[in-house]
Amino acid sequence: MFGKRATPSEPTRRALPAAPAQTADDALNPPPPPFLAAPSAPPAKPAAAPKSARASDTHSDDYYRIKTTIFNALIDTIDLAQLAQLDADSAREEIRDIVNEIISIKAVVMSIAEQEHLLQDICNDVLGYGPLEPLLARDDIADIMVNGANRVFIEVAGKVQLTNIRFRDNAQLMNICQRIVSQVGRRVDESSPICDARLLDGSRVNVIAPPLALDGPTLTIRKFKKDKLKLEDLVRFGSVSQPGANVLKVIGRARCNVLISGGTGSGKTTLLNCLTAFIDADERVITCEDAAELQLQQPHVVRLETRPPNLEGQGQITMRDLVRNCLRMRPERIIVGEVRGPEAFDLLQAMNTGHDGSMGTLHANSPREALSRLESMITMGGFQLPSRTIREMIVASIDVIVQAERLRDGSRRITHITEVVGTEGDVIITQDLVHYEITGEEEGGRIKGRHTGTGIVRPVFWERARYFGMDRELSEALDALQA
Ligand SMILES: Nc1ncnc2c1ncn2[C@@H]1O[C@H](COP(=O)(O)OP(=O)(O)OP(=O)(O)O)[C@@H](O)[C@H]1O
Ligand SMILES: [Mg+2]
Repeated sequence: MFGKRATPSEPTRRALPAAPAQTADDALNPPPPPFLAAPSAPPAKPAAAPKSARASDTHSDDYYRIKTTIFNALIDTIDLAQLAQLDADSAREEIRDIVNEIISIKAVVMSIAEQEHLLQDICNDVLGYGPLEPLLARDDIADIMVNGANRVFIEVAGKVQLTNIRFRDNAQLMNICQRIVSQVGRRVDESSPICDARLLDGSRVNVIAPPLALDGPTLTIRKFKKDKLKLEDLVRFGSVSQPGANVLKVIGRARCNVLISGGTGSGKTTLLNCLTAFIDADERVITCEDAAELQLQQPHVVRLETRPPNLEGQGQITMRDLVRNCLRMRPERIIVGEVRGPEAFDLLQAMNTGHDGSMGTLHANSPREALSRLESMITMGGFQLPSRTIREMIVASIDVIVQAERLRDGSRRITHITEVVGTEGDVIITQDLVHYEITGEEEGGRIKGRHTGTGIVRPVFWERARYFGMDRELSEALDALQA
């Protein structure tokens, strides 16, 4: 019945001939030393290397000046083509030797700690993603946002903060952008200044370059989390209550068609990934994404990715192309990373024609707005359908909308689990099963609130839950929400 419904490694330290040094504390806390000192500088005092990249993110202008000098000398000396033949460790050793030599020839005065950091920095520039490396190595960062060479922001624990990371200039930043996108066979320059790409670790990258970006190349990275959050983690963080999570579990297992709605970075993809945990191992699942972010654990998953047009404007494969093709691949569930255009129509049709348990995310600020966004995507896709027909189609296809939100304290919450009930005249009727209610604010600005039920004990998908043997769990979860 319901089954078919219509770190870069720490280099070893070497002794530096005649290079005077300060203590590590001196090195990390300005005032900066006179980097280009006379050869008769005072003798060296042993110093420890910086404890972490983070501790030494702060640098004086002198540091950047000296780095540029050494970097330029290195580039003049080194054979980049030969360096490319070496493995990463040997390449680092090679760079280390040459940099040490340059430092002693130019009689640069710096502590061993600073010298280590400079070496690391230069290796990152030549071999990796330059100043981005220390940020990429951190797992607590959700987003890295580079607005030109001198302003790098990160998002940590839901809060955006400015870092002290700087690029030498916009040319270096552009080079790194180019290096990133060339790994996925794309190019970014003045003639094609917008580009989506992916880092080798799976992080999602967007680059927009001048002349479109007025203040220099702008790079946005959504860091790929190796250990994806699970529903238990969301419960632990208070993003959803345990009974709320149990309702989601029933929704996933009972193959409800789900739309996850929310603003940018509100946790939609994370939530979608969590819900896919309830897909049975024997189901054939097809995922369609712009940049593959989902990590399904089931054995029978086909992952598809869209493709932008090439420089001649050809070869584009849209999300709609993927979703339509999916239908010919005998899917049991279709998962669309983000619905944002005419593919909405195909997804609804798929949901309505035997692909129960399909899911997708979209940008909207409330469940009701999600429905109207869906309708306008279909209308703007050029489908000549009366609005009533579109609404009936939405009602016949979507069972549940889950709303995610990033609150002003930076925390992410599931604010609604809403059911699509039916139509009354031209209006789609929905009912909230779970709702997040803000009750106040703790000291320090953390928002207090709770997930509550709305008194509904028999949701419309009750019969479906019963069919899949989940009715007891559903009623227990809904009862617990009332408590
Ligand atoms: N409930 C949560 N608690 C804490 N962190 C979360 C939570 N949900 C998501 N995150 C983190 O927030 C970041 C953004 O999450 P995610 O990619 O799921 O957002 P999104 O809504 O899909 O963003 P976009 O609109 O850019 O696609 C990720 O680093 C993720 O690990
Ligand atoms: Mg997303």
